[in-house]
Amino acid sequence: MTADTDTRTDVPALRVESVSLRFGGIRALDDVSFTMQPGTIHALIGPNGAGKSSCFNVICGVYKPTEGSVHLGDTQLTGMKPNRLARLGIGRSFQNIALSLGSTVLDNVMLGRHTLMSGGFLAAGVRAPWMVRQERRHVERATEICEFLGIGRRLHEPVSALPYGVAKLVDIARALAVEPTVLLLDEPAAGLNAVETAEIALTIRSLRDALGISILLVEHDMGLVMSIADRVSVLDFGKLIADGEPAAVRENPEVIRAYLGAGEES
Ligand SMILES: Nc1ncnc2c1ncn2[C@@H]1O[C@H](COP(=O)(O)OP(=O)(O)O)[C@@H](O)[C@H]1O
Ligand SMILES: [Mg+2]
Repeated sequence: MTADTDTRTDVPALRVESVSLRFGGIRALDDVSFTMQPGTIHALIGPNGAGKSSCFNVICGVYKPTEGSVHLGDTQLTGMKPNRLARLGIGRSFQNIALSLGSTVLDNVMLGRHTLMSGGFLAAGVRAPWMVRQERRHVERATEICEFLGIGRRLHEPVSALPYGVAKLVDIARALAVEPTVLLLDEPAAGLNAVETAEIALTIRSLRDALGISILLVEHDMGLVMSIADRVSVLDFGKLIADGEPAAVRENPEVIRAYLGAGEES
């Protein structure tokens, strides 16, 4: 699969700058800064409760940070709604799959595609020929994305009938359907067995290689990220405690302490 050059622009870096996020008295994020370079797999790790999902949700517009900002290249993203972010090239998966279970795989992936469509595709009634052509082109691309993820034969199956590991791939396909330049994955391996985890690691790497996009991989499991990440940022109690290449981060005493302190959860 190659990038859809009709919709793709250059891939800018994504910057998280001095972001803090409070929930009442809880400081979920405390002055967190890091930069995702174009075309890299950037892992955001940390023990449970470290603030990974909070950071993810700030980047994809679900939470507005109490302080700080997020930029994609020169564009300030802070405070933008998820739909607008999707149009700017931020695609996201969900930690707990958020698919329409009664709909088919293709219909779910097409939902991601709708953010790219123009001319009121969803409006019933009027169907100009160009709209039909546009829809056909989007169905072809959605199909291509599913084939790349190995779910091309499941297009017309309802998501409710799929094993969990396959449904996770549908969620990633839907995120890719917005033609993101930055793909955000929140714990893509959660709930998967060892074989499925190894497969998803290969899939993530091949996506980056094929599309040239940046992938933010939020993961609790250090083993998975160390094998595929180009760069790793580590959160602990809402603070960034390390940021660098996997080998250096793995040796970092503060990171080791954070993970040991988390006991069996890590
Ligand atoms: N919506 C929320 N309301 C209140 N507290 C929250 C909310 N979301 C997360 N938190 C708290 O923020 C901290 C970080 O949580 P989270 O970002 O989910 O961590 P992680 O994804 O690393 O496990 C935790 O203390 C959590 O209880
Ligand atoms: Mg989380």
